[in-house]
Amino acid sequence: KTKVNIADGYDELSWIAAESVIQTVQHKPEAVVCIAAGDTPAGMIDYLVQSQENGSVDFTSCQFIGLDEWEGLGESDAGSCQHFLRHHLFQPLGIKQDNIHVFDAKAEDLDMECRKMNDHLSSIGGLDVAVLGIGVNGHVGFNEPGTSLDGEAHVISLDEKTQEVGRKYFHSSMNPPQKGVTLGMKQLLDASKVIVIANGIKKRSAVRDMLYGEVSPAHPASILRYHSSLSVIIDREAYDMT
Ligand code: GLP
Repeated sequence: KTKVNIADGYDELSWIAAESVIQTVQHKPEAVVCIAAGDTPAGMIDYLVQSQENGSVDFTSCQFIGLDEWEGLGESDAGSCQHFLRHHLFQPLGIKQDNIHVFDAKAEDLDMECRKMNDHLSSIGGLDVAVLGIGVNGHVGFNEPGTSLDGEAHVISLDEKTQEVGRKYFHSSMNPPQKGVTLGMKQLLDASKVIVIANGIKKRSAVRDMLYGEVSPAHPASILRYHSSLSVIIDREAYDMT
């Protein structure tokens, strides 16, 4: 069943999402956590860090799993998912390297990287909580339109739209990579808790399709409606269905 939470603004959205993640970790300190990189989760991540600083939760026993990455980029590359997560999440929380498992998108054999991720994820029993953003084209992670429902981690050719929007993460002189690696829909659907966050007018049509459109690979986020407890947290701008 899908629960839709409409927040007053970005700050409230960030706090509601943070509280849900914190609840999971309070209940299970060694939880397996996957948080998208990008603009949307930044506010929630700040709240997670603050909450550990004030002693209400401790993330240091959690396992963190990477959701996606641009081909050829790693943690030292500004704009990569890893760079963002290291600086905003892992370092401020003091997460040990052993508890971080992300894609090495600089690896020569990316299919092998995906297999390693699949094996690791199944060996630790899958995700306890996944916090996902949504692309303007409806992607989740880098599961682009046309993605398979039962897919695990895989290499993907990125939509032109994704590359275009992705420019915001990188220096203006750099073209975003044309490929990426991502966890698959099956692994996201298998998570005990899935939270999707979105804000702003630019996400409105993607949110509408996710919540009310046909469940279809053409709109990957809609597939999350198959999850038994999907929580969608959005602001009014992203929700206005008129
Ligand atoms: C990106 C990422 C996703 C992210 C989504 C939305 O391309 N691959 O993991 O959730 O698109 O990003 P943003 O929150 O910056 O709008």
